[in-house]
Formats: sequence, C-alpha cells, structure tokens
Amino acid sequence: MIGKFWPTLSSTSIHDIVHTALDSGINWFDTAQAYGGGQSERALSDALNALNISPPDAFIATKWWPVLRSSRSLEATITHRLKQLRGWPITLYQIHQPYSRSTIALQMKSMAILLDQGFIQCAGVSNFSAAQMTEAYKALRAHGHSLVSNQVRYNLLDRRVENNDILLAAEDLGITIIAYSPLAQGILTGKFHGGLAKPRGFRKWDPRFRTAQLDQSAHIIRLLHTLGEKYQVGPAEVALNWLIGHPSQRVMAIPGATSTTQALQNAHAMQWTLSSSDRSALDHTSISA
Ligand SMILES: NC(=O)c1ccc[n+]([C@@H]2O[C@H](COP(=O)([O-])OP(=O)(O)OC[C@H]3O[C@@H](n4cnc5c(N)ncnc54)[C@H](OP(=O)(O)O)[C@@H]3O)[C@@H](O)[C@H]2O)c1
Repeated sequence: MIGKFWPTLSSTSIHDIVHTALDSGINWFDTAQAYGGGQSERALSDALNALNISPPDAFIATKWWPVLRSSRSLEATITHRLKQLRGWPITLYQIHQPYSRSTIALQMKSMAILLDQGFIQCAGVSNFSAAQMTEAYKALRAHGHSLVSNQVRYNLLDRRVENNDILLAAEDLGITIIAYSPLAQGILTGKFHGGLAKPRGFRKWDPRFRTAQLDQSAHIIRLLHTLGEKYQVGPAEVALNWLIGHPSQRVMAIPGATSTTQALQNAHAMQWTLSSSDRSALDHTSISA
C-alpha cells in the first residue's frame, strides 16, 4: 500500500535525484521496509553505490514495520534489512509506528541489542505520541542508550506537534524531530492551488487536494509566494526554511522529490534564513488556517 502511494521512478531518475541531492549538500536519506517491501531501500542503495558514494559522505535511515509483529522480529529481520540495503550500514533505525504486538519496553530491549551488536548506529521512533516517545526514551536509557529521534508529520498546514507535547518533550529529552511530509505532500509548493498541477497517485482521492480544502490554505500559499519573491526562492523553500529554522534547533525536514529540479530547490532551503519577522508572519498566518 505505502509503496504504491507515489508513482514508481525509473532507476535513471532515482540516480539523478540522489546525485543532485548529494551535490546540493544533502547527506542522509530516509527510507523504510514498508516502502515497497524493500524496493525503496534497494533503489536508494543501488543509486548510492552506482555513484561510488560511501559513509561518511552519505547516511541511511530506515524503519522496521511493527504492525502484527512482535519485538523479536526486530532482531530476526535485521540481516534481511541489511541485505536490502546492499551492504549500506543502518545509521538510524526507526520503529515506523507505535503498533507492535510487543510493549515499547520490549521493542527498546531489542533495539538495544541491535545497537550493542553493531547492527545499527542509532535508534529512533516514528509516529509516537509524547508519552510513547518518553516511554521509549526511558526504556532505551535503562539499557545505556539514547533515543535520538521521533519522525512525525509536521508542516505549515499540520502543526499538531506544537500542541500535543511532542515538540516540548523532544526538547526536554534532547530528541530530534524529523518532520515528514514537510511540504504537505506538495500542497505547500503552491502548484495545486494555481491549478498548475493535478495530484497523482493516492493524492487524487485525498480531500486535502480538493478545491474546498485548498481554498482554506490559499492565504498561506499567498504568503509563501510573497516571501519567496523577497528571498528569490519558491514557496517550497520558504515552507522548508520555516521548519528547519525552528527556534528549538531540534527539527529536521525530509522532503520527497520526484525530479532533480525539486531536489535542487528543496536542498537550497538550507542556504538562507528567514528573518525573525517573516518567520513570525508565517507562524501567525498558519495558526489561523
Ligand atoms: N514515518 C512516516 O510515517 C512517514 C509518512 C510519510 C512520509 N514519510 C517520509 O517523509 C518523506 C517525505 O514526505 P512525503 O513524500 O509524504 O511529503 P512531502 O515531502 O511533503 O512531499 C513530497 C512530494 O511533493 C512534491 N514536491 C516535492 N518538492 C517539490 C518542489 N520543490 N516543487 C514541486 N513539487 C515538489 C513531489 O511530488 P510530485 O512531483 O508527485 O507532486 C514529492 O514527492 C517520505 O519520502 C518518507 O521518507 C514518513
């Protein structure tokens, strides 16, 4: 299901996108077992290998799929995961969802074993609530390790992490927030508002891409365009810059890209900084969405 969410790219396109990303200063990539049952992991590693890239010039973060599985599968499937990654080390291993059949304590015990045995270098979670993240942090600490990240949806149109204690707890515990869907799956690029693009794949059936919901965010897109003109960048870059410039300095963004142009634009968001008044304008505009 998840693997079919986006159109399949040719291996040439994947190589070109990865190449462009690396050339533009990106040095880590997020993937998951669930993205095509290893297909995304294989495609990414093949692209990196074809480019003769190796650590520390790039790092891979991947995820274990926990649904209907117990924590024992974390250890039982690690060799297979590494095989899918064509020899690439797992710098960050994340629990994709908080829906394993095992307790968080048992999952963290298995993560600690993987860390101790050198199969993975860092452990993280994804889609965990503040309470679940804190429980995972404490459980892993009991084994002498730190939980480094929680990957959650965070963008100008979805700021729940600011109000549900996730961001606050992450700041307290020193956990990095990895913002997924940082462009709201492309909505924040503005291309769907002006009718410049039509949603592809599953997005066709997603109400967020219908006119009624797009109308509700039109004022944010207008502001992104205005600020984009000021900084001579596109709306996507402004939306990404707002995220990575979070005052906590705890937020990273992982925008997807289906072309080298998108990869270039998105990476360029790291090359400049919104002024505090422009940042504040976005803070206030998006709150009223
Ligand atoms: N942990 C989780 O549960 C979870 C869930 C979702 C995603 N993720 C991770 O987060 C990553 C990114 O999230 P996402 O793909 O959902 O959303 P996103 O990054 O907000 O949007 C990515 C899509 O927007 C379009 N786009 C990107 N940059 C653009 C640009 N500069 N100009 C115009 N269009 C642009 C592209 O699609 P088109 O060209 O087709 O329009 C691209 O695939 C994923 O790759 C995945 O690693 C994790």
